[in-house]
Amino acid sequence: MSLMVFNGSPRGVNSNSDVIASWFLKGFEESKTVYLNKVKQHETYINESIEFEKLLFVFPLYVDGMPGQVKYFFEQMNKQKKVFKNKEVTFIIHSGFSEAIHSKNLEKYLYRFADLMSMKNYGVVIIPGSEGFRLMPPKMTAKKAEKVAEIGDMFRLNKPFPSAVKESLEGPLVQSKLQRLLFKILSLVGLSNVYWNSQLKKNNAFKNRFDAPYEK
Ligand SMILES: Cc1cc2nc3c(=O)[nH]c(=O)nc-3n(C[C@H](O)[C@H](O)[C@H](O)COP(=O)(O)O)c2cc1C
Repeated sequence: MSLMVFNGSPRGVNSNSDVIASWFLKGFEESKTVYLNKVKQHETYINESIEFEKLLFVFPLYVDGMPGQVKYFFEQMNKQKKVFKNKEVTFIIHSGFSEAIHSKNLEKYLYRFADLMSMKNYGVVIIPGSEGFRLMPPKMTAKKAEKVAEIGDMFRLNKPFPSAVKESLEGPLVQSKLQRLLFKILSLVGLSNVYWNSQLKKNNAFKNRFDAPYEK
């Protein structure tokens, strides 16, 4: 088997990260996916990764950074540099917000991390606006899925990722003035929070949404 996929979502299975990974894997005959939310398994994952030539990390942006379990795994990797030296790697960061700018600091970190680990980095792919992927009908995500599959193919064939495909997945760094205006209008009429409020209600946390436990 040539590819090991590290899903860094705290949701694990049934995550948007899993959906994105399934697009990436379209052309791969064999691969192994592991879930970094199973923190007790990290040591096993490191030992298993010895057998693989290529690694894909796919995870969401959490509070402008990577989920804690991803950082923890990277720290474990750093202790076993020999295992990862010369491995081919790529990273997919995706985010709830629709602007790529939110992922830019983490992108820099990942290039630096891959460098420090002496891994052969094929690139960091940014995909904003991912929260709905697992809920959308496949038709609605078909174009994104195609582009991610193309990136997966390039990785499989040891070719550089086409910059046009990468850029198109990433989209604009920030929203246009018109998009910002539309968002303001949606916020004013209370429509921008419908989905997030439904999530808060589902988790019985709606009443706590303005809590500020560290305020004096
Ligand atoms: C606790 C938490 C923090 C988050 N922080 C950010 C953030 O800082 N920026 C952002 O764009 N999205 C943020 N998101 C949204 C996730 O990146 C987005 O929902 C993603 O699709 C989740 O992917 P997953 O299903 O693979 O976990 C956050 C979500 C949660 C639950």
